[in-house]
Amino acid sequence: MTSRRRLAILGASGHGKVVADIAAQVGWREVVFYDDAWPSRSRHEHWAVRGTLAMLLDDLRTFDGVVVAIGHNGVRDAKLESLAAHGARLVTLVHPRAIVSPLARLSPGCVVVAGAVINASAVLGPGCIVNSGATLDHDCRLGRCVHVAPGANVAGDVDIGHRSWIGVGASVRQGVTIGEGVMVGAGAAVVGDIADHLTVAGVPARPLGSGSGPTAADADDDPRTVAPGERRGSDDKDMDRAARARRLRLATSQGES
Ligand SMILES: CC(C)(COP(=O)(O)OP(=O)(O)OC[C@H]1O[C@@H](n2cnc3c(N)ncnc32)[C@H](O)[C@@H]1OP(=O)(O)O)[C@@H](O)C(=O)NCCC(=O)NCCS
Repeated sequence: MTSRRRLAILGASGHGKVVADIAAQVGWREVVFYDDAWPSRSRHEHWAVRGTLAMLLDDLRTFDGVVVAIGHNGVRDAKLESLAAHGARLVTLVHPRAIVSPLARLSPGCVVVAGAVINASAVLGPGCIVNSGATLDHDCRLGRCVHVAPGANVAGDVDIGHRSWIGVGASVRQGVTIGEGVMVGAGAAVVGDIADHLTVAGVPARPLGSGSGPTAADADDDPRTVAPGERRGSDDKDMDRAARARRLRLATSQGES
């Protein structure tokens, strides 16, 4: 078992605070943040921000574990890949008041927040977030860096592709397949399969806007759409930015036709 002395968290964000709090509750003795906004950001609440990702890569050997606490799925995925390539010990954090079946399999770099429930035979890829009070029932399969937002409920045997986002309070019917880079809106009810890179919302969930073609989530898929230091504060800003990118692309393509 990994020794729980020093934990590095990449991403001094709102989600970063939640991750640091879980780390303290499960016994990590020291938490140190890294963020590309350093040195203008040198503290995060009562935690120190020590440097940028490049500096973390240099310091890796001084840490017993590393977690990426960036809400944007595409950016989190890119940073995880970079850390893994440098041999970082990516750890999974589970809040002591989350319920995770011993028959579930969580890959490194996942974060499970208070009140979440993950049932038997669920399989999570690296870097997934199962947020406060979200539930994943038996046999669900999540790809890399999926985020199941607070209070979302995913029924049994659901497949969710890489970097998809299940919005706050959404529900997903059993057996459904959700593609990669999909964004499911807050409160949506997903009752059928969803193709890659769609944004869907409503009850039952339907594609937003024109209802056809790529939408917000393909911007969400591309880490280059978020410049370092732009994602200050809430993770919602990342989604707003992705939505703005989508609107811009739609406006541009309409102007071209
Ligand atoms: C679905 C979502 C991504 C769309 O964002 P967006 O592209 O910026 O959409 P807009 O806010 O411009 O809204 C576009 C239209 O869709 C509607 N809409 C947006 N989100 C909706 C939702 N969740 N359910 C139903 N309708 C929705 C808006 O009312 C608007 O309708 P209108 O054109 O008739 O006025 C976003 O609203 C959402 O639900 N995000 C999830 C937030 C979340 O889960 N956060 C968790 C943080 S941990």
